[in-house]
Formats: sequence, structure tokens, C-alpha cells
Amino acid sequence: MEFYILGKTNSQPRIQRWSEKLTVHIDRLGRAIGSFRDRVGSEMAVDLGTTNTRMYLRGRGIFVDEPSVLATDSLNGEPLSAGSNARNLIGRSPDYVALHKPLCAGAIADAAHTALMLRYLIAGARKGNFPRWYRMAVTAPSCGTRLERRAIIEAATKSGAAKVLLVPTLIAAAIGVGYKINSPRARMLVLLGGGVCEVGIVGLGHIIYSDAARVGGETIDHAIYEYLLHRYNIQITMEMAEKIKEELVYAESSATPHETMRVTGREARKGGLKSIEMRPPEISRAVETPINCIVDLIQEALDNCSPAVLSDLENFPIILSGGLSLLHGLPELIVKMTGFRVAVAANPSYTTLKGCSAIVDDPKQHIYCLTQA
Ligand SMILES: Nc1ncnc2c1ncn2[C@@H]1O[C@H](COP(=O)(O)OP(=O)(O)OP(=O)(O)O)[C@@H](O)[C@H]1O
Ligand SMILES: [Mg+2]
Repeated sequence: MEFYILGKTNSQPRIQRWSEKLTVHIDRLGRAIGSFRDRVGSEMAVDLGTTNTRMYLRGRGIFVDEPSVLATDSLNGEPLSAGSNARNLIGRSPDYVALHKPLCAGAIADAAHTALMLRYLIAGARKGNFPRWYRMAVTAPSCGTRLERRAIIEAATKSGAAKVLLVPTLIAAAIGVGYKINSPRARMLVLLGGGVCEVGIVGLGHIIYSDAARVGGETIDHAIYEYLLHRYNIQITMEMAEKIKEELVYAESSATPHETMRVTGREARKGGLKSIEMRPPEISRAVETPINCIVDLIQEALDNCSPAVLSDLENFPIILSGGLSLLHGLPELIVKMTGFRVAVAANPSYTTLKGCSAIVDDPKQHIYCLTQA
């Protein structure tokens, strides 16, 4: 036994030398693989939204456009589905399925499940000559904290990205709507998503001003749900709440039409089905608070502008982008409250991804934006 210990101790320096050499070789190999991956890998743009996740691959186009929902096995945590398949399970899932919405109010609430969701969505799209390695440019809300930005980097890295680059959503959206953001004239953008509303003024390649409120389309869905529950004792699905928002809510109440919608749900106290007729003015009044919050944010941004910026803004309309900018009467309400011209971007839900895709397609041209990330 003693001999054995002595022998082991004597041979340690040799082993140490070998292990040091091996570490150096592994390190060099790692760096060589890294630079090889950098050369052969492809570029991906990701718009990681509270409600929807959209991904673009250079040379292929948009290959993922799905709700940000993940379903896992509740026993072993393995992913079962993601996107619309997982979203369809909300309220209908068996006991062994756990559902996750890993993003909340524009931020990652659960980095591990965000990574699993991204990995699952990418795996589902892997066909043909899908690259083995990819670098990801991910949009990050300008209002996000350092911790939230780190969570995005962590989730993207865990999902398999060789390198991760953060692009501020305001910069991505500005490029997406075709602004020449290094022009000396300032422009105003309002991003209205599912979980967050961002207001920004961009110009000279920079974000001159930005502010955000954790209010979005999902906040309005929840307000509709709560109103119907407390006023009519009816429990509806979030799908129904979203449908009511898209069809019945008018931000500018003077423009509300007379049509009604049949709303069906569960009688909250007794159980069983219950239906009511809902008219636009009533439900529009019920969601006034989150809508006013968005208008206040824009008004505050305008109140904080310097005279030079204000005179720039007078010549160009305020651009609305993001899915919620399609809400009936919202542009009209903003015009009425601010006195500025307003325009909705073409395909507003895709503006941010479009800008981020332009950056990964031609990073050299947008290098000034990337240094801000
Ligand atoms: N026609 C419409 N009318 C009203 N709201 C709409 C309409 N179409 C989509 N929306 C809403 O837009 C929201 C989704 O927008 P978007 O995909 O831009 O959000 P996101 O990027 O996932 O969220 P965020 O940027 O806040 O993290 C949803 O709440 C959806 O209900
Ligand atoms: Mg968004």
C-alpha cells in the first residue's frame, strides 16, 4: 500500500506536465474550432417577443413565426412541443404536461425554458442544408436592465448559438421601417408589442431618447378577462379575450361601430356555458387604463424633446410598429392627443425582425448600431 502511494506521488510531476500540455492543446483546438465556426456558420436574427418569437436565417428567410409558449413533460422536464402546438394546449393540457410562457412584459422570466423553447423551435425547422453552427443577433428592449440583457445572452447561448449579439429593439425597428438612422434629422418610433410599449427618438445613428412601459396587447387581454369576470361573472379563454380586443376594442371611442359580438365562456360561480352580447363602447371603456398609459408615454416623450428635435418631428409622422399598433382607432387617438401626424408601419408585427435581419445580412453597413448593443 505504501509503495503504491509513493509511486503515485513520484509520477505526479510528469502527469502534471502532460496535463498542462493537454490543456494548451485543447485550448488551441477550441480556438481553432471557434474560428472555423465563425467562418462557416450562418447568421440568424431573432425577435424574442413576449407573445411571439420570430427567427430569420441569412439565405433562407423567416423560418420560425410562433407564439412564445413551451410545453414540457412535468415529470422529467423534457420539451414536448413549442409555439402554436403548445399554445393550443393552454387550458386543455393533461396533468403530465407543464406549460410555460418564459417571457413576460418584454423580458425573459425564465432563461432555461426560453433556451429550451428556442432550441425546440430551431430543431423543428432543421431541414435541408440548415447550418450546423449559427451566430444570433437577438433584439433586446431598450428599457431592459443589465440582468435582463444577460438573461437573453444566456438563453441564446444555451439554445446553441455560437455567438450572441444584442440589438436594441428601437434600432432594429428604425432600420425595419426604412429610417436612415444616421441621418441628422430625429424621428419618433413607438413599438407596441404584446408585453411592452417602447417610445424612442432616433437620429445620428443613436437613440436620443427612450422610455418604456410594461404595458402591451396582453395587458389589454387581461383587462378584458377581468372586466367580463367581475361585471358578468363569465370566465373566458385568453384566446377569446384576444379576439374581443382585435374586433371590438376601439381606442378612439367616437369611432366605435354599432355591431355586437357574441361572447361565450364559463359561468364562473355555477359552471356551465354562458353567453352575452358585447358592444364596442362598453368593452373599449373597460380597457381605457392601459391605452391611456401608452398615450401618456408618447406625450411624455414629446414633452421632454428639445426645440430642435421637436421641429424635426413635426416634418415626419410618428411611426407605430408592433402587433398592437393594429388596434382600431389607436393612431387616431394618438393624433388627437398629441397633435402630431401618425403612421402605422407596413406589416407592423415584423418590423423589428426585418431591421434585425438587415443587420445580420449586412453587418458592415450597420456597424454603428452594433457598437450600441
Ligand atoms: N389586429 C390587431 N388588433 C389588436 N391587437 C393585435 C392585432 N394583431 C395583433 N395584435 C396584438 O399584438 C400583440 C403581439 O404583437 P407582437 O408580436 O409585436 O408582440 P411581441 O413582439 O411578441 O411582444 P413584445 O415586443 O412586447 O415583447 C398581441 O397582444 C396581439 O394580440
Ligand atoms: Mg416585439
